Amino acid sequence: MVTGGSGLLGSSFRDVEGRDYKIITTHHQNPDKDTIPLDVTNHKDVQDKIGHLNPDVVIHSAALTNVDYCEEHPAEAWALNVQGTENIIKACKMTGSKLIYVSSDFVFDGCKGNYSEDDGTCPLNYYAYTKLKGEEAVWKSGLEYAITRVSVLYGWHARRGFVSWVTNELNGGHEINVVDDHYNSPTLDSNARDAILKIIETDKQGIYHTSGSQRISRFDFAVNISRVFELDESLINPIKSSDLVQKAKRPKDSSLSVNKVHKDLKINMINTLEGLKHMREARL
Ligand SMILES: NC(=O)c1ccc[n+]([C@@H]2O[C@H](COP(=O)([O-])OP(=O)(O)OC[C@H]3O[C@@H](n4cnc5c(N)ncnc54)[C@H](OP(=O)(O)O)[C@@H]3O)[C@@H](O)[C@H]2O)c1
Repeated sequence: MVTGGSGLLGSSFRDVEGRDYKIITTHHQNPDKDTIPLDVTNHKDVQDKIGHLNPDVVIHSAALTNVDYCEEHPAEAWALNVQGTENIIKACKMTGSKLIYVSSDFVFDGCKGNYSEDDGTCPLNYYAYTKLKGEEAVWKSGLEYAITRVSVLYGWHARRGFVSWVTNELNGGHEINVVDDHYNSPTLDSNARDAILKIIETDKQGIYHTSGSQRISRFDFAVNISRVFELDESLINPIKSSDLVQKAKRPKDSSLSVNKVHKDLKINMINTLEGLKHMREARL
């Protein structure tokens, strides 16, 4: 069972339905193909649905992911990202389901970069704080669990995604401003999904950085998008993060090391050029 099945990462699980798994994906306000409704903030709804479906594994991907919105609406962010996770934990205890909690590179303060799973956390904004509190609730729960951190997710999705924004703007001949002083590890949705499935298949526990393998600035990522999709890269202007007025502070370098995933799972976490070429081929 995948919560947030109408979101960017969650929806990618539908592509492997029927391969080796029976997969149920859930939505909240945006029904998608074959998703079932679930409000993770509603304790009874969560107990009823998980109790009825009795899944072997729950992949909890649903979250309030708009970082600036979370800063301005902390009660909503807490209700969904922390209390919602606690509701999922209680239901998993009832059914004995394993829990995979999807978390974020933003749990780090970004002073160091190339973070390993053993590095200390220090969230800079309220979204990141709620994701970390969700992590804590999971590892304290006594359930069989894994925490999988991703970073700047990308992939084709009707309502979401940096790649769609960049390609649409450049296709329309519009200039865009992109920061060149913040670094992440952009993560292709299907690559993170496959790592999560491997964690389940090999019965791994603990924290895993299931992100892309490349530390890259948002500006260089946009340039790679323009090159792979053969668009005009001269329309992309580099700017500094200090030029932007944003409600929430962001880490400067929250890139993640994927050494543990490569070693333990023997799965290849890919760089942005590889990921973008996958996307281009999926469109052809
Ligand atoms: N996006 C990133 O760059 C990024 C980076 C690091 C970590 N993450 C983490 O990765 C996970 C997946 O992110 P994403 O970008 O795929 O998410 P997303 O596209 O923003 O989708 C969020 C999902 O949560 C669902 N949801 C919202 N409110 C809900 C509620 N009350 N009850 C149940 N479901 C609810 C949404 O359903 P409806 O749309 O149907 O309402 C949607 O399916 C999240 O846990 C996020 O924190 C994301």
